[in-house]
Amino acid sequence: MTSPGLPDPTAPDAECIVVRGSGPLAGTVVVPGAKNSVLKLMATTILCDGPFELSNVPDIADVSIMGDLLAAIGVEMSRPAPGELTLVNTGVITPVAPYELVERIRASINVLGPLLTRCGEVRLSMPGGDDFGARPIDMHVAGLEAMGAEFKFSHGYLEARADRLHGAEITFDFPSVGATENLMTAAVLADGVTTIDNAAREPEITDLCDFLVAMGARIDGIGTSTLTIRGVDQRDLSPVSHRTVPDRIQAATYLAACSVAGGSLDVVGARADHMTMLLERFGDMGLQIDENDDGIHVEAGGRPRSIDVATLPYPGIATDYKPLIITMLSVADGVGIVTENLYPGRFRYVEELQRLGADVRTSGHHAVIRGVPRLSGAPVRAHDIRAGAAMVVAGLAAEGETRISGIHHIDRGYDDLVGRLSSVGAVIERC
Ligand code: EPU
Repeated sequence: MTSPGLPDPTAPDAECIVVRGSGPLAGTVVVPGAKNSVLKLMATTILCDGPFELSNVPDIADVSIMGDLLAAIGVEMSRPAPGELTLVNTGVITPVAPYELVERIRASINVLGPLLTRCGEVRLSMPGGDDFGARPIDMHVAGLEAMGAEFKFSHGYLEARADRLHGAEITFDFPSVGATENLMTAAVLADGVTTIDNAAREPEITDLCDFLVAMGARIDGIGTSTLTIRGVDQRDLSPVSHRTVPDRIQAATYLAACSVAGGSLDVVGARADHMTMLLERFGDMGLQIDENDDGIHVEAGGRPRSIDVATLPYPGIATDYKPLIITMLSVADGVGIVTENLYPGRFRYVEELQRLGADVRTSGHHAVIRGVPRLSGAPVRAHDIRAGAAMVVAGLAAEGETRISGIHHIDRGYDDLVGRLSSVGAVIERC
């Protein structure tokens, strides 16, 4: 019991990560499956009854939250072994997603398409997610309206109805990841053919396409920016076993850690072909990167070199890599300019880097980073998942102690970041 006025020691913020400037890293880190794939695969189990098996599942908080959300809808989740999930669609589906769960993760919006196409109706609290600005869902709504859905918004909920969705030709202004996924899953059971032009083509989208095709969906153009989905009958779908694609953002985090601390790492499980452009730019920064059968081998020595980078949809440099890149540039030799093209507000962690002595100035979509030889440890806060990981990497490049609070954000997307880094020589612990 906590006395009034005192902080609750069991609250998420009572925990922190303490990291000290660390010498060269050495050893092997295994990269788990991607958060931004597994959450979508989980939501897609709504489409058909029976037991699904997922492997290479990261042990992260967002998987538990999505599991709770699916349990409320009618899909029961269990964890038969580490890294594995069983999801049993009971066939009794309630198309309502309650506020308490939806507001905690952005990926909860991914139940919209499957629920609407399967049940003909859905009531969904507006989704939450990260603290870096507005994240509208107008493209999801417009696409589903083109397929025959009718929407109503009231009291923080959206309600959608459609007796049966029909195929449509949809062209996105921008290749939205979530909208591509929602329309694609909805189109699987729609009447007729849906084409999505300017679709997102991240590796996690391809993973979802592969999952759907294994279930019995008919999708052409996988991996391209034009997806064609031919609607099938629900009886044509069946549950499947599937291995989640590896997490390219977690993989990049270990490469960034090696870049600022020096040393050599084997990042096992990483898919270099999913990170082509990033690896090229990391090469420009002085990292020596080799792809092998197990993943990626990286070697780093001395300060990174500065580069200019702009974020773009895949296959461009992902916005989720950006906090890591800015952290690397903070200790690089020279001046780098980073341009954010997806989330204008996604620079909040820069204030935290400045507390560590980084010389970063932001203006609108741009950040100018003048590298300094070393950061200096200080208390900092994680404002979102990727910013939190960047603080950990910054701590490796800082003299003295960096104490990171707000680490529940890191737990949402990173599977034992502390244990993995400590196993390769980083001086880091969870308090
Ligand atoms: N957008 C709209 N309207 C829409 C949808 C998107 O304006 O209807 C805008 C967004 O506001 C944003 C841009 O389009 O400016 C990109 O949004 P997108 O829909 O592509 O992103 P998302 O599906 O909401 C996913 C990841 C993010 C990642 C982005 C971009 C999940 C759960 N989230 O979000 O990951 O940054 O794609 O690659 O898959 C993270 O993992 O930490 C994370 C934030």
